[in-house]
Amino acid sequence: MIQYTDELKEEVRSANDIVDVVSQYVTLKRSGRNFFGLCPFHKEKSPSFSVSADRQYFHCFGCHKGGDVFTFISEIEKISFKEALELLAERAKIELPVSENAEFNKTQYLKDKMYKINAETTIFYHERLYKPLAKIAQDYVKQRKLDNKTLKAFKIGYSGEYNELYKYLKAKGFKDEEILATGLVNKNERGEFIDRFRKRLMFPIMDVSGKVIAFGGRKLENNEKMAKYINSNENLIYSKKKNLFALNLAKQSDSKKIILVEGYMDAISLYQRGFDNVVASLGTALTEEQGRLLRKYSEQIILSYDSDGAGQEAILRALTILENQGCDARVLQMEGAKDPDEYVIKFGSGRFNLLVENAISLVEFKIKMLKNKYNLENSSDKIRFLKEITKVLSSVENRIEREIYIGKISEKYNISKEAIYAEVNKSTYNQNVNENNTLVKNIVKKKEENNVNSSIIKRENMIIYLLINHFKESYEQIVTNITVDDFKLEVNKLIFQKILESSAEDSETLLQNIANIEDSEIQSHVSEILVTDYGISSIEKCIDDVVNTYNRERLTNRKLEIIKSLENSSNLNNDIKNQLESELNNIMLELAKRK
Ligand code: UTP
Ligand code: MN
Repeated sequence: MIQYTDELKEEVRSANDIVDVVSQYVTLKRSGRNFFGLCPFHKEKSPSFSVSADRQYFHCFGCHKGGDVFTFISEIEKISFKEALELLAERAKIELPVSENAEFNKTQYLKDKMYKINAETTIFYHERLYKPLAKIAQDYVKQRKLDNKTLKAFKIGYSGEYNELYKYLKAKGFKDEEILATGLVNKNERGEFIDRFRKRLMFPIMDVSGKVIAFGGRKLENNEKMAKYINSNENLIYSKKKNLFALNLAKQSDSKKIILVEGYMDAISLYQRGFDNVVASLGTALTEEQGRLLRKYSEQIILSYDSDGAGQEAILRALTILENQGCDARVLQMEGAKDPDEYVIKFGSGRFNLLVENAISLVEFKIKMLKNKYNLENSSDKIRFLKEITKVLSSVENRIEREIYIGKISEKYNISKEAIYAEVNKSTYNQNVNENNTLVKNIVKKKEENNVNSSIIKRENMIIYLLINHFKESYEQIVTNITVDDFKLEVNKLIFQKILESSAEDSETLLQNIANIEDSEIQSHVSEILVTDYGISSIEKCIDDVVNTYNRERLTNRKLEIIKSLENSSNLNNDIKNQLESELNNIMLELAKRK
């Protein structure tokens, strides 16, 4: 086994900025000197995943995963540390010393050959489509209304008879075991080599970078006994759950959306009619890996499944996968055609675009499903419907979003807003009582926050923000002027106490120390603080201001206290009275100076 030197590791590490690398998987937002996003390692709705550009380190406050760029890649790609290093070296175009590991070299060599075979095969099939013997395929693409530009863009082809591809590849110098590894040719019991795809319309499947990794082949004959499509089996270079058909094209689109369809033909047909942002799942239910790919390349995903095909459950599952990864996912509602290809041919791209624009969210989709279950003319059904939709609505955490839904539902199903609100409030109350500790804790926290003036909370949060992000500049001033008792919010008291106890001497170590506290309330509060934009223009002035505010408050309180004592001065002796009066004078002076 080859051992890479520490020097090489460092070279690879410094050539791969962790913020860039993580950004390929997670949408990051800057906050101070850190970046935040939704953790790719566990499900969450608000960001607790942070990346430090300075330290080249990532950490999740939610699931406690953390590490450097190598750890990140090996965790997210589920590969070993060494493979992560190799992947990152390739990303940065750093030559690695050739491995002495014969096994590893052999695999690399074979993979390389397989890509080459796929590339040659693509050309073979594609050129064959234009030959006179391909009349049946030419007629078919005409019938399917595919134009030549589309045939070229997708490198659509026509596969040969018997062993034509095998002979072609042999003539190009490829070895039997290399050809067999791609699955494009099989060896039968008699030891003959026979092409897998014969007389089919061929769709090359490419990875994100445009390299052909597999093929799908559609039958052209009207033979019920034949499978409509056959596809390459999974192999060294092809995993269907990690790829999406046409993503190599869709990722170049200017659109912020990606339309997800089921069939090769849907993607191709829409592409031809101006939708350059379409991908097709490869005959599988949407996987988490595919969801991650989609999130990487788009802000919104429009599910456009066949109107009969997938069924509601598949749509629900896909939407849920996408939402859990923080995607804005919607479902397109199609009527009058069985799939997007048929629809766009029948009604045109303008109409299809309207469907895209009017695609509905997961919540709306769930409600629509419920509506189909009940007869809203019937009043007892209507009550049941109301109860069911309430459950769905209570899961919407964002209040404004919930209000929008309530408005829409009220209008669409003719139920008064008040009735819906009444049910929702009842249900959130019950949920609060029944649900687990953290929820109850959060409610307590919310209640507490309601009692403490919001500008005070903001100020307290900002102090913590300053300490974490600008430790060196702020620590001295803050701890000499502000005490634990000055904090009003219990969770802030706790965090401040921890900061005082911490032996950290810089922001990095402090953040690490805080990250190690195993308390979900503290963690979620800290991440909330860190992602908030406090609009600070000058750190120095900000620290001065906040320290001043506390000192002024302290002086003002003392002033009121003295005034009160002096008002009841009958029981005070003169000395003390004089002392208080002079203190009061000093305070007034001090306050005047600070104005
Ligand atoms: P469809 O039958 O909807 O495919 O199957 P399509 O692309 O719309 O094909 P046309 O319009 O009938 O020509 C959806 C996808 O499921 C996979 C393919 O990836 C196909 O594109 N599939 C379907 C198979 O792998 N094998 C099959 O036999 C059928
Ligand atoms: Mn179809």
